[in-house]
Amino acid sequence: MTKLRIAIQKAGRLNEESLEILKNCGISIDNGKDQLKASARNFPMEVFYLRNGDIPQYLRDGVVDIAIIGENVLIEKGHDIEIAEKLGFSKCRVSLAVPKSVKYNSVNDFEGKRIATSYPNTVNSYLKEKGINADLHIINGSVEIAPNIGLADAICDIVSSGSTLFKNNLKEVEVMLKSEAVLAVSKEIKEERRILLGRLQFRIQSVLQARQ
Ligand code: PRP
Ligand code: MG
Repeated sequence: MTKLRIAIQKAGRLNEESLEILKNCGISIDNGKDQLKASARNFPMEVFYLRNGDIPQYLRDGVVDIAIIGENVLIEKGHDIEIAEKLGFSKCRVSLAVPKSVKYNSVNDFEGKRIATSYPNTVNSYLKEKGINADLHIINGSVEIAPNIGLADAICDIVSSGSTLFKNNLKEVEVMLKSEAVLAVSKEIKEERRILLGRLQFRIQSVLQARQ
């Protein structure tokens, strides 16, 4: 039997709410804690638990048909990937931040500065558009620590509640983009799986409507 293959985040901020929305769609998943792949009991679907940053490539390769992923990750790594639905949860911003003690005037202040980030493409295109040259340090996590340890003058990262910035004595000075969880679709998806996707989207739309 044909199954729709969906990627969701293995661990992290999207994981729980992704499973929750599938559950609200009436789809129950056999979820062994350490399993990387699980089947739905009552919908022709296989769930793959993957690292966030790897999901765009899996979609591109057609190894999975769809994914629940942060729009910010697609903007960074998957411009080419189609978004079928915005899902309304995991809202965040991707922002530039500087130490609280710094007097900030405008985005021009970033000229020649060292910026630590996990979002190099997003920062580069933002600064390029503004005609600013900066020196990017790419790190994969705990980005907000960089100014405190002298690695960078500023950071660019996700801001949700703002508590990580606050704890690290940083202030948000430029919002580059706003993001939320989305349903992304592989260009390689086969016709029979598109039909299953249609059924899933119908349910998702009802769930989102009910949540309003
Ligand atoms: C994420 C992100 C920010 C923080 C934002 O980090 O990279 O640091 O959450 O959320 P807040 O505004 O609500 O504090 P995460 O905790 O996922 O860890 P990581 O950066 O080490 O991956
Ligand atoms: Mg972080």
